[in-house]
Amino acid sequence: MSSADTEFQPLGRADVNAVESILADDGLDFGAQSHATPVGGDAVFTWDYERTRHGLSKLYERAKTSQWNGTTDLDWSTEVDVEKVAQFMQAAAAPIRARLTDLPGSPLASWGPAEWTHFGIEAFRWRMSQFLHGEQGALVCTGKIVETVPWIDAKYYAATQVMDEARHVEVFSRYLDTKLGGRYPVNPNLQLLIDDVIRDSRWDMTYMGMQIMIEGLALAAFGFMHQVTEEPLLKKLLRYVLSDEARHVAFGVVSLQEYYQGLSGTEIRERQEFAFEAALRMRDRLMMHAVWERCGVDRESITRMLFEIRRPGVNPFQASLFSKIVPNCKKLGLLDAGDGWLRDRFTEIGVIDFEDAPDTEVEYALLDAVAADRAQVG
Ligand SMILES: [Fe+2]
Ligand SMILES: [Fe+2]
Repeated sequence: MSSADTEFQPLGRADVNAVESILADDGLDFGAQSHATPVGGDAVFTWDYERTRHGLSKLYERAKTSQWNGTTDLDWSTEVDVEKVAQFMQAAAAPIRARLTDLPGSPLASWGPAEWTHFGIEAFRWRMSQFLHGEQGALVCTGKIVETVPWIDAKYYAATQVMDEARHVEVFSRYLDTKLGGRYPVNPNLQLLIDDVIRDSRWDMTYMGMQIMIEGLALAAFGFMHQVTEEPLLKKLLRYVLSDEARHVAFGVVSLQEYYQGLSGTEIRERQEFAFEAALRMRDRLMMHAVWERCGVDRESITRMLFEIRRPGVNPFQASLFSKIVPNCKKLGLLDAGDGWLRDRFTEIGVIDFEDAPDTEVEYALLDAVAADRAQVG
């Protein structure tokens, strides 16, 4: 196999924003029971057991003491009123909802509170389902990092993350099954991105795709949901997941900061392009088609409507998805490397203002909810 077969191939800017291309993705089949994708890269053994990477060592020590147990640390007997939870989430989406309803000929113009409540519950289940599938992606990617990263300190740390991600899959799956009545299949664009990351033969691209991009987006989305929800089980679940995720993104930042120093300009540019496209795909192509269709709106109409109301920089929720990615890319030197290509792109899509938001290497200790709770009890 040539290296081109195992390296990320950009979609092309035109395709990223093409209605037809987004609709075509819905035809992809990821299987009803399982999905297999080839893994790129070599399993690397190191004979250098010297613990020289202190940043990684520190993270590893914290990971060992901040483990929690999804079975006993969360109160699964909590009664969840799904309608109430969904209403909270919907309140945040009200401005987008109003813009969609106001479009000429909008099928949503006739929707009343009952339709919106139904939509809200389904949208909540859909989001939680994508979190679940994303967590499984993280579980598999971190297993791959254990194999492919050449540094012993990183293998140690990644091994703790495998355990963290298993726990995340477990708790999201349990919440969906016992509180929300089941799940949606994976969004094709999310799975395509995960597959790209797994197929890529360069070990640092697993980090870039998973630890920086997907986990960065997840950190922002979990943070948002954690802020708006008052459902106690979900709030605690997200608080604990978040404290792990912040450490995961920090792991990506610390590792890549070192590795990128040794890369050529061309290699760095490939990482910049990957970061930007992955961010756009996650921002623009996850359209909840399955939810809209269940609520009686066909996928083509809603895709066109969503395109129509899109203006760069005006949707604060969409923009906030970049609140972790941009400062972390800055910390990695990716914003200004070369001719500042990535800075220009982030400026074009209206998210460059996040560059000075706290980066996750600084933030992860503050987000360690498990340590905070133990300190209180002890
Ligand atoms: Fe996770
Ligand atoms: Fe994670």
